[in-house]
Amino acid sequence: MHVVWYTAMSMDGRIASADSSLDFLSTIGPGQPTPDGDPWDFDAFLARVEAIVVGASTLRWLLQGGHGWPHGNLPTWLLSRDAALAATVGATTAPLVRREGDVGAVFEEIDTAGHVIVWLCGGGGVAGQALAADRIDEVVVTVAPTVLGAGPALFDGVGLPLRRFRLEECRTLGGDAARLRWVRQR
Ligand SMILES: NC(=O)c1ccc[n+]([C@@H]2O[C@H](COP(=O)([O-])OP(=O)(O)OC[C@H]3O[C@@H](n4cnc5c(N)ncnc54)[C@H](OP(=O)(O)O)[C@@H]3O)[C@@H](O)[C@H]2O)c1
Repeated sequence: MHVVWYTAMSMDGRIASADSSLDFLSTIGPGQPTPDGDPWDFDAFLARVEAIVVGASTLRWLLQGGHGWPHGNLPTWLLSRDAALAATVGATTAPLVRREGDVGAVFEEIDTAGHVIVWLCGGGGVAGQALAADRIDEVVVTVAPTVLGAGPALFDGVGLPLRRFRLEECRTLGGDAARLRWVRQR
């Protein structure tokens, strides 16, 4: 199994503002055209994803914004202590299962189910726990050319262990943003 934390952040490592806005993403600007017409690689990435892990706050943000759960076709593990949250998503074609507690056990369950490429969809709290459990295999992050000062971090958590990653990709994107990709070095 290979777990990818794929997201975007500000220059100071925030994945949203303190009031949960993603407006900072507008500073990234239009992506440079590529032969496959997918400057962010997101569609290509999503096409490879077999399962998703998402935290309750990220899901709530999507639901409150009227976006619904856009990935109902992919088996999804929702981390939440709120037993009612999954039901608010509505019908999905693939299972949406809620789990709470040990994130390591959740990844074990996904591995046992046979999913190979797993997208850690957010947020920073879940990413921090996954890092602590040494379940982050790759970090793909677009760094927007702006600063937020506060808000959820790329990895949230106190006393996270030192984990070393190897830089595999570093390029400009959308003019003034950067795309960074690290792979866990074990
Ligand atoms: N820049 C981007 O592309 C991007 C990507 C993803 C998210 N975001 C933003 O990031 C923000 C949310 O991130 P976040 O780090 O604050 O929150 P998060 O990780 O999405 O969710 C945290 C919540 O998930 C639940 N949870 C986490 N671990 C759990 C566990 N082990 N067991 C049970 N429940 C667990 C808890 O909610 P309960 O209270 O329900 O238990 C916890 O408060 C949103 O504003 C979202 O828009 C941005």
